[in-house]
This record gives sequence, structure tokens and C-alpha cells, in this order.
Amino acid sequence: MPRSKRKNKLILFVVATAIASLAFYLLVHFNSELQELLRPQMGGLASQAETFVKALQLVFLGILAYLLVRALNSLIFGLAFRLRQGFEAPTLVRNVFSIVAFTLLFLLIFSSLFPRVNLGALFTTSAIFGVILGLALQDTLGNFFAGISLQADRPFQVGDVITVGAQRHTGVVEEITWRAIKIRTFTNHVVLINNSSAAKEPIEVCPRGNLNARLVLFNTLFNDSPAKTIHVVREAVREADNVSEKIPPIVRIRNLGESGVEYEVKYWLEDYARYNDTDALVRQRIWYAFRRAGLNFAFPTRTLHLERKPRAEMGEGKGGAIVERLAAVDIFAPLSAEETAMLAKASINHVFAPSELVIRAGDPGSSMFVVHQGRVSVQITDNLRSRTVATLNEGDFFGEMALFTGEPRTASVVALEETEVLEIGHEAMKRVFDNNPDLVESLSHIIAERRQGLAARDDSTSGETDESAGILSAIKRFFGLN
Ligand code: CMP
Repeated sequence: MPRSKRKNKLILFVVATAIASLAFYLLVHFNSELQELLRPQMGGLASQAETFVKALQLVFLGILAYLLVRALNSLIFGLAFRLRQGFEAPTLVRNVFSIVAFTLLFLLIFSSLFPRVNLGALFTTSAIFGVILGLALQDTLGNFFAGISLQADRPFQVGDVITVGAQRHTGVVEEITWRAIKIRTFTNHVVLINNSSAAKEPIEVCPRGNLNARLVLFNTLFNDSPAKTIHVVREAVREADNVSEKIPPIVRIRNLGESGVEYEVKYWLEDYARYNDTDALVRQRIWYAFRRAGLNFAFPTRTLHLERKPRAEMGEGKGGAIVERLAAVDIFAPLSAEETAMLAKASINHVFAPSELVIRAGDPGSSMFVVHQGRVSVQITDNLRSRTVATLNEGDFFGEMALFTGEPRTASVVALEETEVLEIGHEAMKRVFDNNPDLVESLSHIIAERRQGLAARDDSTSGETDESAGILSAIKRFFGLN
């Protein structure tokens, strides 16, 4: 509840209490005077005037009792319950408390003001009335008692995701009242389910603080290796946002289907209420991972899938673009056209999704990458916080440090958008070095410069020459060059 609204409520409460207390005080203080005043109007009967004044007292004491119950309700459920349990008590519990407490207080006040009235007889004579009322309120009372039994069991709470009813309504529980459960569906609609219907139906509950799992299905062609598929999908899914790090995803074969191998990936969510977005992200990650790993989704085998690409798209065009890209990379500038073409042929093309990890700091690495399309950011972890040391664009390269020195990756590289990179391995680079020994030297300078960028020292220039000399000999040793 907003602060101003709470303040207004408090002011209203204080004013109402003051007025009711004053009225009651005046009624008690001027009791006999009031009776004297009323007697002529009541045909001179003292008992009628007394009853009338007592009835007035009952009204104001009733109002005071109501205010007291409300204050107790706010204190117990609004404050103490929230402090102890961490969430507000359900509306239904609060309402039941109010009704029971008020009825008891009212009966107490009534019997002290009218001690001669036999409440038992009153109830007995009103039994028939009660039956009629009960029949009329059958549904309402059914909901009420079903609500109480649901609350007694406490199968779910506000904030949990539940699926209920024959129509399988799914949504986040917003409120549990004496009549119905109010859920907000994932299309932002509100669905009200009667307590009595909910009590009869099975309810699937995904509690808020619980690690709830989801299943996402996909398939591959029969000739794609299951071991490779399982590894690739598990790694792709575990990095996705909202996928819990506590339990690694499980990828398993569900069926050897008609068109291909059918898999499911089971993953656990941090926030189950966002499962639609997370399912979609998981599918997206699987698509990209498949593309990089050369895996294929299965489509119905009865479909004849004929594809004839125009010549420009069939490799030559693509190969030409790769040669052009590599020729424009500054460290490869000294290479001859044949050498660049050889490098292009040896390179492998990979696509990464936005915010996907291309390489992880600390991993071993035996290849370098050229950004063919898109952008990546180079990140290191400083005091447990991730820091970006550089952003690399099309034509820039990375991953050379581990490739040329044999040391683990010095930083993580993350795709900032959908990014295509060209991976060049150890073998291809060794061939290039054998023909162009000068290349080693220019590379050692770049590596030394980047190392200083990683250390982020202000006096970075001082040791650069020594360092690049050290790197130069490390590269030569690693590649077996003289
Ligand atoms: P490597 O250590 O193999 O893996 C992480 C890569 O991040 C690293 O090679 C470099 O290519 C790149 N890198 C590290 N530091 C910098 C920097 N300061 N500027 C640009 N790129 C960097």
C-alpha cells in the first residue's frame, strides 16, 4: 500500500475512534438525563427509554469493537506476520480473524448491556431462519469453507505459480479471498477460480522459493552424435539467463522418433514466473549452438528437401568474403595472396548469439579468432566484478595470446550482438610463421600492449620493450621457430 494511503487510513481510524469514544462517553455520562428526556416520547415507559439508550451504547461500542478488531488485524497480520514469515497473511485468514473476533466481542458487549436477554434462546428461535439463510448462501458458504480448508493446508501462497481447473489456467497467485483465488496469467489476464471448484480440482503448484524445472524439446538428425549433442546443448543452456547455476541442465534422449532423435533438456529456473522467456532463450541458445557445432534439426523424412543455391552463395562468394576479411586484418597484411587464401581455407566460421561467451578466461586455447561480422567485448574479473577492457569490431582479432604462448586464456570474450567469427588454428598459423618470420615480432608487440591493457597500469610503457622481447622468444619456442 502506498505511504500516503496508509497515512490517510491511520488519520481516518484515529478520527473514527475519537468520535465513537466521545459518543459512548456522552451516552454513559448523560445516561439518566437522556432517559428522562426520552421518557415522554416513549409513552412514559422508563424501560423503553433505557433500552433505547442501551441500544445506542451498543451501536457505539460495536463501532469501537470493529475499530479494535481492524487495528489488531493490521498489527498481527500486516506487521508481525510479515516480519516473521516475510510476506503478508492471505486476505482470507485476515477476514476470518476479523469475523470471529468481532462476533465474539459483539456478543460479549451485548450480553453485558442486556444481561436478561437469553442469547441461547435467540439462536434457537432463529434456527429456521438460519436454515433458510444457509440454503440461500450455499455457494457462498461453500466457497468460504473451501477457502478455509485451502488455507489450513497451505498448498500455495501469493507469488507462487499454479495451474488449476479443467481448463488448466496457469498464472501467478495474486490474492486468496474468502470467495476465490485470483491468478494473473502470462498474458496479463486475471482469472478468478472459486475456492469450492479449486478444492475439487488437482492444483499444480510451483512455489516461489523452490527450484522448479522445465522441459524443452528438440530433435536432431539420426547421424548426429548423441554424445556431442548432449554436451553442446548442456553447455549452451547452462549459460542462459535465469537458468539456475545450482543444478546443471540435464539433456537426454526421449525417443528415437520417425524423423530423428528426440531429446529433452531439463533445466531449473531461478524465477519460475519468467519461464516463457527462459524457454524461448533456451531454444535460441540451442539453435546457435547447433549452428556452430554443425548439428542439424530433424525435419520429417518424408519431405523431399531440395535446395539449389545461386552460385554466389555456394561457398565461392563466402570464401571470397573471408579472404577479403583476413587480408584487411593488419597483422596479416604482409602475407601473400596465396597465404591469405590458405588461411581462409583453414579457418572455421562460427556464429554466436548476443551475450554468448566466445572464450572463457582460464580455459586452454589453441586457436585465434577474427571478428568477421558483429562486435565482441573483452572482459576480465576484477575483485569479483566483471570489467570490459576492450571492444573489438569487424576485422579485429582475439585469442592470439593463448595461441602464441600456450598459456591459458587471459580474458573472456563475449558477443555483444549476433557475431560471426573466423577461427584459425595452431597448424595454419605455424605454416604462416614458417614463411613470414617477421610476423612473430609484430605480434609480440601487440600481445605486450594488450597485456598491459589487462594489467591497467599507469606506467604501462616502461616495461613494454622487455616484455615483448620475452613474448617473442616464448612464441618462437612454442612454435618451434629459430
Ligand atoms: P587470449 O588470452 O588467448 O584470450 C583472451 C583474449 O582477449 C586475448 O587472447 C586477447 O586476444 C584479448 N585481449 C586481452 N586483453 C586485451 C586488451 N587489452 N585489448 C584487446 N584485446 C585483449
